[in-house]
Amino acid sequence: MSASVSPQLSAFALDVVEGLSCAGQKKISPRYFYDELGSALFDVITLLPEYGLTRADERILQSHAHNIVSEVGPVSIVAELGSGSGKKTKHILQALTRAGNRIIYRPIDVSRAALTACERDLGETSPVEPVCADWIEGLSEIASARTRREPLFLLFLGSSIGNLERKEITEFLRRVREHFQPGDFFLLGADLVKDVNTMVAAYDDSTGVTAAFNLNLLGRINRELDANFDLRSFTHEIRWNDTERRIEMHLRSMRRQRVYIGALDASIGFDAGETIWTESSHKFTPQELDSYAQASGFTVCRTWIDEEWPFAEALWKAVPT
Ligand code: AVJ
Repeated sequence: MSASVSPQLSAFALDVVEGLSCAGQKKISPRYFYDELGSALFDVITLLPEYGLTRADERILQSHAHNIVSEVGPVSIVAELGSGSGKKTKHILQALTRAGNRIIYRPIDVSRAALTACERDLGETSPVEPVCADWIEGLSEIASARTRREPLFLLFLGSSIGNLERKEITEFLRRVREHFQPGDFFLLGADLVKDVNTMVAAYDDSTGVTAAFNLNLLGRINRELDANFDLRSFTHEIRWNDTERRIEMHLRSMRRQRVYIGALDASIGFDAGETIWTESSHKFTPQELDSYAQASGFTVCRTWIDEEWPFAEALWKAVPT
């Protein structure tokens, strides 16, 4: 099987084996949650009563799309890191079109499934030209294909930035900034620190959808990498890390067991109680977001905050560096 795997598949296989065979904490990157089933489960997460994040993001975009667009001025390319849900992005695309811009929308995602869903949702609103790549790689492709006269507006919604470690964020934003021209805009959605029980419940919902989303990672490895994880022997676990101000999501092996991954002819042992760390969702303060802007070559135009579910939508403008 490994002889015939596609390049994407082998990157997945290598990351999985590397993350599971290290000596300490086992881990798998959250980027691999979003196969077709994972993307569908994430869409359900956004509807959960406990998960207020997406609704807050959308409330801000819906009620302030007009203000956001008038701050931004003329735009020809709207790019988005992660193809997100068309529902949220639509508010911005529609407001831009209403303001007289002729735009093309370029979502960047590693997940084909997510890009297809996004084209389906937004194709009627604007021309869509998806880029199937890593965030920075995709942004670089878009930036080098445009001319000086095509102002760029980049969206990074839904607190996806929360998946990065704090120490990686400034470096990441600087790399984003390298592909901007002064005067380009960046809209960043970030979930804010709130009551711990509220944050934990958002990732440990009583319906069990987030547990299914988490376990699907093992299901995906079974399907795509020919592995034999017994999903029923792993449980979903959520922790709040107060020092790092983040939610951590794990899969805990309830028994000692070995799992075979056919695509790489590798076998992985788990102790009873051992976990795979599958995601970190960092939570921010508005001040912290301002200092990220300053440290990475942006000026803050405005930040909108949802009062019902503390969440920030920050509009930044690239300044000459
Ligand atoms: C899409 C990364 C923002 O961290 O809240 C939701 C993903 N994981 N429930 C988040 C997620 C579990 C989500 N992000």
